[in-house]
Amino acid sequence: MVCVKLTLGERVPVTRFVCSRLYKFLLLCLVSSTFGYDDVLAEGSNNGTVELGSVLRPSEQLMLWYSTERKFGLGFHPSGNDGLYVLGIAYSDIKDPALVWSAGSGIQIGVQSSFRLDNNGNLVLQDEIGRVLWQSNTGNSGVVSAVLEDNGNFVLKNGNSTVVWDTFTNPTDTLLVGQKLAVGRRLELYPYSFSLEPYGNLTLKWKGNITYWNVGASESSKTLTASLSNEGLFAISNSSGAQLWVTRSSDYTDNSTTLRRIKLDPDGNLRSYGWHENSQSWHVGWSAVEDQCLVYGWCGNFGMCVYNDTGPTCTCPSANFVAVDPKDPQQGCKREPDIDIQECSNNQSMLELEHTEFLSYPPESDDFYGGISDCEENCAKSGSCIAATILNDGSGMCRFKTTNFTSAYQSITIPSTSYIKVCGEPQRVPSSTMPVAPSSRSIKVSVAGIVVAVVGTLLFLAIIETAIWWFFCRNNSGGLSAQYTLLDYASGAPVQFSYEELKRSTKNFKEKVGSGGFGTVYKGTMPNRSLVAVKKLEGIEQGDKQFRMEVATISSTHHLNLVRLIGFCSEGRHRLLVYEFMKNTSLDVFLFPSSEKSRILDWETRLNIALGTARGIAYLHEECRDCIIHCDIKPENILLDDNLNAKVSDFGLAKLNNVRDHRNHTLNSIRGTRGYLAPEWLANLPITSKSDVFSYGMVLLEIISGKRNFDISVTSGRRKFSTWAFDEFEKGNILNIIDEKLGGQINAEQVERAIQVSFWCIQEQPSQRPSMGKVVKMLEGLLPIEKPPAPKPFEGLQSSASINCSVSASGSMVSVLAASAPPASSSSSADVFLS
Ligand SMILES: *[C@@H]1O[C@H](CO)[C@@H](O)[C@H](O)[C@H]1NC(C)=O
Ligand SMILES: *[C@@H]1O[C@H](CO)[C@@H](O)[C@H](O)[C@H]1NC(C)=O
Repeated sequence: MVCVKLTLGERVPVTRFVCSRLYKFLLLCLVSSTFGYDDVLAEGSNNGTVELGSVLRPSEQLMLWYSTERKFGLGFHPSGNDGLYVLGIAYSDIKDPALVWSAGSGIQIGVQSSFRLDNNGNLVLQDEIGRVLWQSNTGNSGVVSAVLEDNGNFVLKNGNSTVVWDTFTNPTDTLLVGQKLAVGRRLELYPYSFSLEPYGNLTLKWKGNITYWNVGASESSKTLTASLSNEGLFAISNSSGAQLWVTRSSDYTDNSTTLRRIKLDPDGNLRSYGWHENSQSWHVGWSAVEDQCLVYGWCGNFGMCVYNDTGPTCTCPSANFVAVDPKDPQQGCKREPDIDIQECSNNQSMLELEHTEFLSYPPESDDFYGGISDCEENCAKSGSCIAATILNDGSGMCRFKTTNFTSAYQSITIPSTSYIKVCGEPQRVPSSTMPVAPSSRSIKVSVAGIVVAVVGTLLFLAIIETAIWWFFCRNNSGGLSAQYTLLDYASGAPVQFSYEELKRSTKNFKEKVGSGGFGTVYKGTMPNRSLVAVKKLEGIEQGDKQFRMEVATISSTHHLNLVRLIGFCSEGRHRLLVYEFMKNTSLDVFLFPSSEKSRILDWETRLNIALGTARGIAYLHEECRDCIIHCDIKPENILLDDNLNAKVSDFGLAKLNNVRDHRNHTLNSIRGTRGYLAPEWLANLPITSKSDVFSYGMVLLEIISGKRNFDISVTSGRRKFSTWAFDEFEKGNILNIIDEKLGGQINAEQVERAIQVSFWCIQEQPSQRPSMGKVVKMLEGLLPIEKPPAPKPFEGLQSSASINCSVSASGSMVSVLAASAPPASSSSSADVFLS
């Protein structure tokens, strides 16, 4: 009775709010002691149906309409901001009730607003002064009933029980189990949207026009739908139910995950969430854009995405910019001073950003191919260019940004360099936020040490030592140092990692993915989740300075067919190299499969690999600044990327092994691999780039035949395969040479050309072998090929011991130091570098 009296207080608006709260409290106290809390809620549930003319007000007891089993509630939910509400549908029987649908893009409203289902069937949300904030526009559609179903769908039906309007077909930012996203519908959370396109792809877009995520079936149909299953499978299906594209949540079919939803989050990423019964919390089971920094515009205009120790974060490119709102880095940055760059025509300069790219989905204006300085200069001169990115992946492509919005990503794993126009002098990152590079810090420390020695008091020494210890530890614990020290290096220079960082990224060198003559390779993960291959070099006695010089040479090579060196570590006796990771392993795995089930490379792919390898080596020999002789070309050192493009690895390492101390040379020198070694190795003659050509010829023959050249098999009549192959070639029995696994699916003209090229490459006289540049042209069919003379059989080679290749400090000439070294076990084992 007390309660009834209080609700009658409606006519006194000032006290109504207080009264209603009091009412609820009293009711709860009263009822929960006798019937339990659930019974109170049951009053509002009404079997999920909502009568026409019903009204909800946050100021009253009835804030929600519940579904039949009260799994969901539609109505006013506290927004998190004190005293404000959001009108929507949320889970109602869990501790952390996520909002799954909202009216008016989740607009926050005060306690005096109302939501009603009009007698004519229109849903209306009004604010305190009666303005319509949102409506369903179903006033004239003959709605006779409304029901909130237990799957979370709120449905308006007409007299024929036909659905007139429902929340499942008018989603906001969430998809529930049972809800189908049809072509043309989208989840939206400005500036981001998620939609199923008529061409059969799911996309994430920024402001409706920049597509930064695009996957799917590419089967055009207007009847496609995307939906999430109870088990955690998210799929695009066609009208007959066939799944054209699927992705699974990490808790797929996990029984303790009881609720699931897909949500477009405010950070522009699409995630699948599961409610874990055991922990009573939501877990992310899948996210569309694995690397958050690739979400377009996440850091706002002029913002730059970087990874710190805890995850992705937004900063401004340099002190030429300041954050729009220092408390909310996602708001982006503005120029400092804040003027339009066009108005700064006589004081413009280009700010260089290493390891940075401006995101382009797709590229905004015509790409062009040019060098790094071309890219910078052309952008500087162009009135419309705001920023430019030169892709240092070997393609030499320069991308202009002409629109007034830039979204940047900086990471040590990005090879690209970018430029952005600034007004006035280009600034570096403010020193307050930039940790000092380890090298300069150690200099400071030693200077301090001298000063202290001069002062000569033990007390001081103790203090300084403590300071050193503190500096050192602080340095080693920071994952940030690598991010920033890269700013200290010249263009194209590699990133320096601390040993601690690499230890952490490889989980203390846990996952070994290969080993070879130079050391062991481990799989590692960078903070942005990109994979790297960390090579722990062994037996490198080189000093720090020399090592850095060689590393700089290796990393100045940029070619599509060379494995990219990302960085290095040189600390104490530790010498490590960090490379991009190739998950398709190396060529030998495909050429000489260990099991019947292995994938067989078709001829087209083989030719493409042969050409790619040749181009990579040609670049090393002829195009890069310091000519690099590889010294160890073999299928194990030819890695394959996701698209089975060849990437030559382990180049430049022979030079690292500069032997000064002759007592140690047999231990320290690098081994070439038998079966691929040019005859000059044995003859103690100078090793030149033509020695690589020989090894390449051997590899090419293996690509064609699928057999190890040094295997003495029955096919080749107990002779070396290459010798036997030449005889067969002479007799015109080309088909005998070709890998039977190809099943005759070849282009005869290309195969014949490749066989001839390989015989030219393995000529005994280095001068008779073509240069790598010529090899490329011959394989491409751009140069006529004469009939090759017989390669001299090197029968003695296979029985010889491992051969050591060492490069003299003065240059690229290689001399054989020890042909008599005992055979090392690793020389015959596969020199797999990455797997
Ligand atoms: C659809 O997605 C696939 C990747 O899953 C992509 O290769 C294709 O280009 C996309 N189609 C269109 C028209 O964007
Ligand atoms: C990393 O960035 C986040 C978000 O900007 C910030 O909250 C956090 O404190 C940063 N962590 C470190 C170690 O700097």
